[in-house]
Amino acid sequence: MSITQEQVLDALSNVIDPDLNQDIVSLNMVEDLEIEGKKVSFTVNLTTPACPMKEEIHRACINAVKHLVDEEAEVEATMSSKVQQSAKMEQDTTDTLAGVKNIIAVASGKGGVGKSTVSVNLAVALAKTGAKVGIVDTDIYGPSIPTMFNVRKRPDINTRRKLIPLEKYGVKLLSMGLLVDQDQAVVWRGPMVSSAVKQFLNEADWGELDYLIMDLPPGTGDIQLTIVQTVPLTGAVIVSTPQDVALDDARKGVAMFKKVNVPVLGMVENMAYFTPPDMPEKKYHIFGKDGARNLATHLDVPFLGEVPLEQAVREGADEGTPVTATDGQGVAGVAFTEIAKKVAQQISIRNAQQAPTEKIEIKFN
Ligand SMILES: Nc1ncnc2c1ncn2[C@@H]1O[C@H](COP(=O)(O)OP(=O)(O)O)[C@@H](O)[C@H]1O
Ligand SMILES: [Mg+2]
Repeated sequence: MSITQEQVLDALSNVIDPDLNQDIVSLNMVEDLEIEGKKVSFTVNLTTPACPMKEEIHRACINAVKHLVDEEAEVEATMSSKVQQSAKMEQDTTDTLAGVKNIIAVASGKGGVGKSTVSVNLAVALAKTGAKVGIVDTDIYGPSIPTMFNVRKRPDINTRRKLIPLEKYGVKLLSMGLLVDQDQAVVWRGPMVSSAVKQFLNEADWGELDYLIMDLPPGTGDIQLTIVQTVPLTGAVIVSTPQDVALDDARKGVAMFKKVNVPVLGMVENMAYFTPPDMPEKKYHIFGKDGARNLATHLDVPFLGEVPLEQAVREGADEGTPVTATDGQGVAGVAFTEIAKKVAQQISIRNAQQAPTEKIEIKFN
């Protein structure tokens, strides 16, 4: 008896995407199904190349065909992906952002908690999974992307008079720091900053991107509020240390995004603990323990993971070689990669669930 397409699809309809709670056949993820004797091959298009369930789904596909169709089948399941565009981007009418599927803001209430470090490592880790990634540094008063990527070149302008993002570690990048003189920036007022950011996003040739990471200026003031209202954000990632003063501000950050109807994709606890290299079994909780994790639970937002305080992270940031870009990754590098996958997962879940959200008008008095 030869194997039929119908048998294979029936079997694969038992494979559930655990994040989307639906089977991969109904989700239209199965493509290029070919059968030749006992050889069965197909492609499964997940919603992100950074899917943390990739291996699990791969195994489930092979098992389903073998157990439900033919024990002797030679199954080749190719795992691929198509990142979905967020409904907010679909509503967006600016042609320059047309190829951008998701914009993710990385925010913190307080400065110095590692927001830029997290943004950069998220971007590099996502790019490493094969996703098309960009990063934009909107922190005009304290841009760190040029340093963290070690790029200083002024971006060129193309024939359509759009800025061409620079590229490093597979990530397209633009920073206010590459365009605005730092001594001048300090006197910029809020409205100038937010209109510059808007221009910055709209007047750049980002091309096709699965994820555009936006490093926001620290805080929850007018500048941040204006930015998050004018940019069609898929969601926000909040970074905090476990320290009370940072947590108070992180709480304000979550409240700000909720107010403007931007989903909080989750919270990252940075500088969670320190392990001295010569005492690998020790964990010193310098800034307190589990603060951001507990706050995430309390505010009912996903906890995305913790990153230890690690010298290599600081050195990598200063030298323009993020730990995720180097091969021998320490605990922090692995943590950033896991966090990146969780972020991608949360985006896939949101995009699958979403009914297009209405724009909410906020009035200032
Ligand atoms: N997990 C970490 N381990 C070691 N140093 C870190 C870590 N996270 C951030 N840093 C360092 O702390 C400083 C502040 O981080 P940064 O990302 O610039 O913060 P923010 O953008 O929130 O102001 C930088 O010098 C950075 O290298
Ligand atoms: Mg920063």
